[in-house]
Amino acid sequence: MTKIITSIKEMRQLTNELQLQGNTIGFVPTMGALHDGHLKMMAQSTDENDVTVISIFVNPLQFGPNEDLASYPRDIDADATKAQSVNVDYIFHPSEKEMYPQNPTIEVKAGRLATVLEGAERPGHFDGVVTIVNKLFNVVRPNKAYFGKKDAQQLAIIEKMVDDFNHPIKIIAVDIVREEDGLAKSSRNIYLTEQERLEAPHLFQSLRLAQSMYEQGERESEKLIEKTREYIEQHTSGNIETVAIYSYPQLIKQEQINGKIFISLAVKFSKARLIDNIIIGN
Ligand code: PAJ
Repeated sequence: MTKIITSIKEMRQLTNELQLQGNTIGFVPTMGALHDGHLKMMAQSTDENDVTVISIFVNPLQFGPNEDLASYPRDIDADATKAQSVNVDYIFHPSEKEMYPQNPTIEVKAGRLATVLEGAERPGHFDGVVTIVNKLFNVVRPNKAYFGKKDAQQLAIIEKMVDDFNHPIKIIAVDIVREEDGLAKSSRNIYLTEQERLEAPHLFQSLRLAQSMYEQGERESEKLIEKTREYIEQHTSGNIETVAIYSYPQLIKQEQINGKIFISLAVKFSKARLIDNIIIGN
């Protein structure tokens, strides 16, 4: 039976005892509104660890002033049922007051990796992410923690943070889970209108188009970006915020493609801002 824990003290005691008893702990941090992408990570964690802890916490620090903090979907009962279905042992679900009793005075800075892409569009976002993930790692102290490639920049930043801050935690990267029509699963897809939902799979199609050009030998970033943009403009009503090619995981802009890169996009629909990416090369 999945158990919900709301206190930091209780969570720490629990994982401490479990580890003393020789259990390995897998951890999947989330903001709730769980979907199959989240559940896949949880299932992988229950496969690979003795005990799986997930967190559900909508972290105010990582939302900008004009973002969807207030309207972000919250339904702990539905989430608990889903977590139970993949045999999660514990849900850490603290209140805002429990996590941030006062306005935090010390914040972790994500640095250079946060100055591009999502970080450039959402100032302060990744500082908020690394601050909360640091706190969560210190509370749960897992052996392994799972992050999705859906948020490729977040994954690269967390991997760097774990290195830089010497967290004894192995980060596991999980592939993007998609709807049958190719749309990347996201808690924010519910903001799409019916018409936009029909258009949204074209985001993935645009990335596939770029990938096929790459496979046919095109190495000039601008050419791939141009085609991707054109395709999105032709097939959706969304406004393109970003289509860009960066090395992965260094996150340096690439004019010419060689080595491992990712094509990253962010498109704004009337109420939903969707991101997607594809990692290419090696
Ligand atoms: P959230 O958006 O809830 O995502 C939690 C985890 O699920 C992230 O690692 C994200 O990359 C992964 N994920 C989301 N959609 C996915 C998909 N379609 N396929 C595979 N994985 C997917 O990311 C956050 O929350 C927060 O920033 C958090 C790390 C919890 C810190 O607050």
